[in-house]
Amino acid sequence: MSKYIVEDTRKVTTHRFIEMKRKGEKIAMLTAYDYTMASIIDGAGVDAILVGDSASNVMAGNVTTLPITLDQMIYHAKSVVRGVKRALVVVDMPFGTYQVNADEAVKNAIRIMKETHADALKLEGGEEILPSVRKILDAGIPIMGHLGLTPQSINKFGTYCVRAKDEAEADKLKHDAKLLADAGCFAIVLEKIPASLGEQVAKEVEIPIIGIGAGGKVDGQILVCTDMLGMTADFTPRFLRRYADLNTIIGNAVGSYVGDVKECDFPNDKEQY
Ligand code: KIV
Repeated sequence: MSKYIVEDTRKVTTHRFIEMKRKGEKIAMLTAYDYTMASIIDGAGVDAILVGDSASNVMAGNVTTLPITLDQMIYHAKSVVRGVKRALVVVDMPFGTYQVNADEAVKNAIRIMKETHADALKLEGGEEILPSVRKILDAGIPIMGHLGLTPQSINKFGTYCVRAKDEAEADKLKHDAKLLADAGCFAIVLEKIPASLGEQVAKEVEIPIIGIGAGGKVDGQILVCTDMLGMTADFTPRFLRRYADLNTIIGNAVGSYVGDVKECDFPNDKEQY
């Protein structure tokens, strides 16, 4: 494994995202939730970082993304923004902050942008949230859509299985993707859908399609950082490739430290004043 050399070190913008699709350059995204991870990931060349509401699962230990609050997302996003020099930073609007009505959505969206200094927001859903999407875009805030498996609707779906396998759901997804693109979203995440559908949507809309379990023929990929680094040992969906086994590495390092403390090997003479 080797380090990826980023040639264009300018800050990534939403316009660059669309330019990358036009040029056929794949977009690499990861999630991050804190300053240290964000600065490592940014330095390693990702094009965009999502402050995902998956923080609810991987940072707070909740079963779903639903409990995370606006204040908590703002805390995570501020920490990430401080660590990033190049990547575009996108923040998830948490459950309940944009579904009630468009006025409340834009108020919450403005609060996130003002307090975090992030670059864009991500919202889950299609036609049903279009008034909120339009109002936020009208306020000058870039939006990334999210269709397919939308974890904030897990109680409606009932399972984390692959979405849009039947024609009716696939047709609705294609319709929603077009609506979001026409409204002015700069990109769309497609989660856990058939690869052939991902490819079709990427061909049909001009904005980048970022996949997570949507196959290799979309315009970019996103993974949850703790999953691809092998920290979450018990999460093994088919779409996940693990690039490290940090669960074992951290476990071994901590085990060595505990052993050294117990055996009076740490600190040694050189490690004290
Ligand atoms: O919250 C998140 O991490 C996400 C990604 C899975 C796309 O929405």
